[in-house]
Amino acid sequence: MSAQTGASGDIRIRLLREEDVEQTARLIAAGGTTISGLADAGVFLPVCRDALGDRRVVMVLAVRAGEPVGYAFAVSDWQEYWRGFARRNPGIGLRVAWSRLADRVGIGSSSGARRPTDEATPEGVVPVGTTGRHWGESSPTIGKVIDVVVDPSCRGGGIGGKLLRAMFAELAARGVTRADCRTEIDNASSIRMEIKAGWTMEMTGTRSLFGTIDLERDPDGEPDRA
Ligand SMILES: CC(C)(COP(=O)(O)OP(=O)(O)OC[C@H]1O[C@@H](n2cnc3c(N)ncnc32)[C@H](O)[C@@H]1OP(=O)(O)O)[C@@H](O)C(=O)NCCC(=O)NCCS
Repeated sequence: MSAQTGASGDIRIRLLREEDVEQTARLIAAGGTTISGLADAGVFLPVCRDALGDRRVVMVLAVRAGEPVGYAFAVSDWQEYWRGFARRNPGIGLRVAWSRLADRVGIGSSSGARRPTDEATPEGVVPVGTTGRHWGESSPTIGKVIDVVVDPSCRGGGIGGKLLRAMFAELAARGVTRADCRTEIDNASSIRMEIKAGWTMEMTGTRSLFGTIDLERDPDGEPDRA
C-alpha cells in the first residue's frame, strides 16, 4: 500500500522488517508510548522483535525515503501475550509489576488517564456505556491498538488514517474481528483521526476515551509485506 501525500512526499505503508527493529523501538520510546508506565527502548525492543514472528503483534510502518516517519502498533489476545512477555523478559516484567504497584499507591505518574474527568464530550464521541464493550476485554479475536504516531513534520496529511486502515486490514487478515483503542480526552487530532477511521469513540468517565470497531477483510488495504 503506497500513498502520495503532498508535502509529506511518497509514503509507503508496510509491515516492520528485521532491519527496522532497533530504529522502530527507539521511535516508539521517543513517541511517548508507555506499557504499564514503562517507556524506554529496552521495553519496545523485544516487542518489535515479537512483531516479526508472533501473529499477535502487528507493527505497521509509514516509510518515506527509506526512513520510518510513523507507526501503528497493536496486540491481540493481549492479556495472554503480556503474561508470556513477562515470563520471557522477567526484568521488564518486574519493572511493570513495580510500576503498577506504584500507580496503585500513588507513587510516580504512570497513568493520568485513570483520573476522573468532567470535561465536555468531544464532538462525535458517544456517551459512557453505549458500546457495551470495554478496554479490559481480551481474546484472540480482539486487537488492542496500543499507539499510532506520525512524525510532527508529516502530520495532517492523512498518514495516521492510512496507518489505521492498514492496521485494521492486517488484523482482519490474521482473524481478528474487533479493534479497540484508548485516547486522552484532550487529544483532538487523534480523536478526529480515529472517528474518521470508523472507530466508535466512547466516554469512559476518566480522561481516557475508549474506541471500538468491528473489522472486515480488506485485501486492498493490507500493508506491503516486503
Ligand atoms: C494522532 C496522529 C497519529 C495523527 O496523525 P496524522 O497523520 O496527522 O493523521 P491524519 O492526517 O490521518 O488525521 C488527523 C486529523 O486530525 C485533524 N487535526 C489535526 N490537529 C487537530 C486539532 N488540533 N483539532 C482537531 N483536529 C485536528 C487533521 O486535520 C486531520 O483531520 P482531517 O483529515 O479531517 O483534516 C498524530 O497527530 C500524532 O502522532 N500525534 C501524537 C501521538 C498521538 O497522540 N497518537 C495517538 C495516541 S492514541
